[in-house]
Amino acid sequence: MHVGIIMDGNRRYAEKHKIFPRFRGHLEGKKALERLLKSWVKMKEPKYLTLYTFSLYNFKNRGVTEKKILFSLIEQGFKELISSEEVKKAKVRINVVGNLEKCPKKLRKVFEDAMEETKKYSKKVLTFAVFYDGHDEIV
Ligand code: FPP
Repeated sequence: MHVGIIMDGNRRYAEKHKIFPRFRGHLEGKKALERLLKSWVKMKEPKYLTLYTFSLYNFKNRGVTEKKILFSLIEQGFKELISSEEVKKAKVRINVVGNLEKCPKKLRKVFEDAMEETKKYSKKVLTFAVFYDGHDEIV
């Protein structure tokens, strides 16, 4: 079974809960993802989980500060994932797909390291879609 999740609504969440500045909603989004992943690693299905994480639309339409915060949250999230005992125990392979030409070098390296570190696993597959456009999303 393959499940895909579009991780949007972080800013709308912040607005609803009066969290300012609005991009602090991404911190809540990251915590929600951590809760979801904690459950997923313990479940047999779905084997494949794809997370639509950061689109080209986000890249074009978000301010410099918000993108900096997002990239650092994503970087931190990846580092936590690859050092997590639960993730290792569940033998999760991490994949990153998308058009990485526009991706900052430092973040690209974090993606490459996560893929390299987990390429020996195949029990579960966690794919992050980044820098994707509407066409990629449909494909
Ligand atoms: C866009 O919401 C949502 C994102 C760009 C997702 C960001 C993902 C994280 C912070 C999780 C990172 C963690 C790991 C492990 C990679 P939006 O700005 O479109 O919100 P809106 O729909 O309310 O405008």
